[in-house]
Amino acid sequence: MNARAIRQGSYVAVAGEGAARVMHRCALLARITERQGQILRMFLSPAMEAVHRAMRPWMETAGMTVTVDRVGNLRGLYPAERGDAPRLLIGSHLDTVPNAGAYDGVLGVLMGVALAEGLAGQRLPFAIEVVGFSDEEGTRFGVPFLGSRAVVGELGGELLDCADERGGTVRQALAAFSAAHPEVVGAKLAPGSAAYLEFHIEQGPVLESENRALGIVEGLAGQSRGEAVFRGKAGHAGTTPMNIRRDALAAAAEWMTRVEAIAGQIAGTIATVGKIEAEPGAVNVIPGVARCNVDVRHAEDTMRDAAVSAIFEEAQAIARRRGIAVEARQYHEHPAVQLNTAIVEMAAQAVKRAGYATMRMTSGAGHDAMIMAPHLPAAMIFLRNPGGISHHPDESVAEQDVAAGLHAGLCFLDEFAPYLNEHGGRVSV
Ligand code: HGY
Ligand code: MN
Ligand code: MN
Repeated sequence: MNARAIRQGSYVAVAGEGAARVMHRCALLARITERQGQILRMFLSPAMEAVHRAMRPWMETAGMTVTVDRVGNLRGLYPAERGDAPRLLIGSHLDTVPNAGAYDGVLGVLMGVALAEGLAGQRLPFAIEVVGFSDEEGTRFGVPFLGSRAVVGELGGELLDCADERGGTVRQALAAFSAAHPEVVGAKLAPGSAAYLEFHIEQGPVLESENRALGIVEGLAGQSRGEAVFRGKAGHAGTTPMNIRRDALAAAAEWMTRVEAIAGQIAGTIATVGKIEAEPGAVNVIPGVARCNVDVRHAEDTMRDAAVSAIFEEAQAIARRRGIAVEARQYHEHPAVQLNTAIVEMAAQAVKRAGYATMRMTSGAGHDAMIMAPHLPAAMIFLRNPGGISHHPDESVAEQDVAAGLHAGLCFLDEFAPYLNEHGGRVSV
């Protein structure tokens, strides 16, 4: 057997052991929640701190120095042969949507830890920083990517004024977190950060239908989030004739069906009204106010802009026809992102060397890689998601696919040093 074959053989064993640990740890972390009976972990929550406490010993035993930064990102540094060496970031997020599955985000962070463990103390010509971002979903403040945006210096301005359901702002939450944890470090990209790699479940059915364990992400769809607040007139449900009602929720319902129709008309558009609240919210009261949130995605930004405009114009038209008011606005937007072709190619080679057929794909879901990509060459490797379901407790991944991902990750680490040499220690975005 030649040296490469021997190494590949031991990679299979290391990846297999790592995958068993990753699965076990995903199950352990799934028990850490802030809502009984379901998985929910929000930005800077006690549940998130409990996840950090659970992960810290795993990371330290793997040889990492562990810190938490001032936006609550968990960061573990596995040192290089030399102190001033470049570093490879491997990350994903530790927060969740309400009633989440056990793998979205967490899996990618734990795979980073498993790769460091797999090195068994061996030093590489580059350091590895495993990052567990504190907010990707935006569940608490409505705006996503707070953890990664802070790291690239983009958490400021109006974002800090966004409020959660209790009315507290991001700014206040950060101040309280720093006051309670004086040990937190600055949330920035360390000098020498050279590239970003993220593993994530696909959150869709494509890899399963193509019978592939792993996918190579080339780009991510752009996304918009917005809200429409319909204001009609509350009144008695038993006495107010139908023809003089100003029912805000009926207007919202009409709008929701139009959102669905508009998405169907503009090819490639994905649009969802995922949250709706009626006030005052009683069975015998005509709804006076209806608040809805809409999420719109498209791989092409101009098409997404067109869909968002049509969706908001429709809200105005419905409100006019019904004689009520509406305030409709976009409050978050992120353009579509193309990942760095050179580093994506390297990820594809790594998957191939691990013995798996590659498949290129575009992600409809948002990921921290979107935020990192303009600042660092970024690659993403998707893992098959049996049943193609995510943001749901049925979300799953197979241990053998995690092993495939780890094997590819070990091959990626092999390729990264020569790659850095070729690019003078840093790959340009
Ligand atoms: O909403 C998303 O695309 C992601 O899962 N955060
Ligand atoms: Mn998610
Ligand atoms: Mn995710």
